[in-house]
Parts: sequence; structure tokens; C-alpha cells
Amino acid sequence: MQVHSEIGSMRAALAKCRARGESVGVVPTMGYLHAGHLKLVERACAENDMVVVTIFVNPTQFGPNEDLDAYPRDLERDLAQLAAFAGVQVFAPTVAEMYPQPLQTSVDLAPLGQILIGAARPGHFRGVATVVTKLFNIVQPDRAYFGEKDYQQLTVIRRMVADLSSPITIVGVPTVREADGLAMSSRNVRLTPEDRDAAVVLARALDRGEALLRAGAAEPEPVLTAMREIIAAEPRADLASLDIRDAASLDAVTAIDDRPVVILVTARFGDVLLIDQRVAEKARRSQAA
Ligand code: PAF
Repeated sequence: MQVHSEIGSMRAALAKCRARGESVGVVPTMGYLHAGHLKLVERACAENDMVVVTIFVNPTQFGPNEDLDAYPRDLERDLAQLAAFAGVQVFAPTVAEMYPQPLQTSVDLAPLGQILIGAARPGHFRGVATVVTKLFNIVQPDRAYFGEKDYQQLTVIRRMVADLSSPITIVGVPTVREADGLAMSSRNVRLTPEDRDAAVVLARALDRGEALLRAGAAEPEPVLTAMREIIAAEPRADLASLDIRDAASLDAVTAIDDRPVVILVTARFGDVLLIDQRVAEKARRSQAA
């Protein structure tokens, strides 16, 4: 497995693949890989001749009081996990390599990047959209793979690619869950054992919300109320946000019709902010978890 820390070396390796006519997939990550990331890599390997996994904890998407310093990092561990995938190349740049000078250019989505998580974390999606654009410019992939767990991020990137006419197919991959339903996240490692057990309440609340939507709930509010009650019964959970939105646009919905909606939840367990989501449609089908 080749590991590149410099943009020039990454581009040189990619040029050789392109000269052979190979397709390229990219899996952007911030490292501390778990089974959810490996599912993205597996899918990318199945659909492309060559796959680049990027590992970069991007400082510009963290606010001043967020967990940039506490974000888990272990490149050796990540490389050991990726060794199982033959032919994968890793791009793991330093901050100085990615940001040699203060940026004067950024990619901002409004309103999509400023609602929901974007309202609670001002500038977060500007940081995400800008670094993903840089990674796309470095790798120039045919396809890029993102987890559905970070649903607003996936929606932002899909919209960015459409708005900027980027010739890249964005592939959303279903959330991978622990046996009890907790969505896999690099942040789970920071939970205390008690908070780890408590955090399953998010999946339980989503199960209930999805069941009510599928059973024909006509409005979001009763569904949200039932979910809030489930989360409130878990004293270790500090609910930060709970929304039902149009699954494609993330526009607010006042009545549930035949269009798919997404339930979006964020909650703190200790100082760890977890997010989860569920796409649901009236009566006919549910999302594979
Ligand atoms: O989802 C992540 O890990 C990050 O937000 C991403 C897409 C790699 C950009 O830094």
C-alpha cells in the first residue's frame, strides 16, 4: 500500500493510473477508521480500478470550542486496517501541505450549509465543502463515497457537486451500526462505558419515529414528541436537535406526504456530540439500517 503525504506524490501515482485508463474512487475520511469507513472502502474497491482513502483531520471544519484537539488520531492503526484492501492508496497530508497559506477562497452553501448542524456549528460546512473541493481537485476521482450517517454533509456535497458542475458521482453508503443499533462513529471511542450504553437511545428513538411515519403520521410534531419522550427518559442523553426534513432538500416539512423524509438527531453524551439519522417513507418501505 502506498501512503502519500504530499500532493505531488499523490498526483504522480494517479497520473499513472489514468494513463492506464483506470477509474478512480475516493473515500474522504478524518481517520480513526471503523467498520463504517471500511464499508465505504469496500464499496469503492468494488466500483473502481483504483481507490484513494484520504486521512486528514481538517481543522477548518472545527469551531474554536470544538473537539479538534480531542479528535482521535492513529495513522498506524488506520493503515493496518486498510492493508486488507489490495491496491488502495492513502493520502494523509499534514495541515501545512493542505493549507500552506491562509485561504482566501472558500466554498459556502447557503442556506443548505447554514441550517440544522450548520446553524449550531457556524462555518462547519464551509470547512467541509472547501476541504472536499480541495481533495476532489487533488484526486480528480470518478466517484466519491460518503456515509449516510452524516446526512447533511452528504446532502451538502451532492448539492455542491451539482451547483459547480463537477464531473464526480457522489455515492451515499448506508450507516453501519453496532449490534445494539448505535451508529458507528470515530467519536464513539471517546464515550465513557456508561454513555456508550446510553447512546443506543438514539437508535431506539429513530426506530420509533420511523415506525410512526411508516404507519401514516400526517404531521412531524407527534412523531418528534414521541421521540423526545424516549430520549428524555435516558438521563445521560442531552438532546441538542431533532428534526424531520425533506430527504432530498432538507427543507422543513409541515405535513407528511408521499415524499421521503429524513429524521435528524444530535445529542450530547458527556462532552461527545453524536449524530444519527433515518430516512423514512409513509407506509411503503423503510431504509436498511
Ligand atoms: O466526514 C468526514 O470525515 C469529514 O467531514 C470529511 C468529509 C472527510 C471532510 O473533512
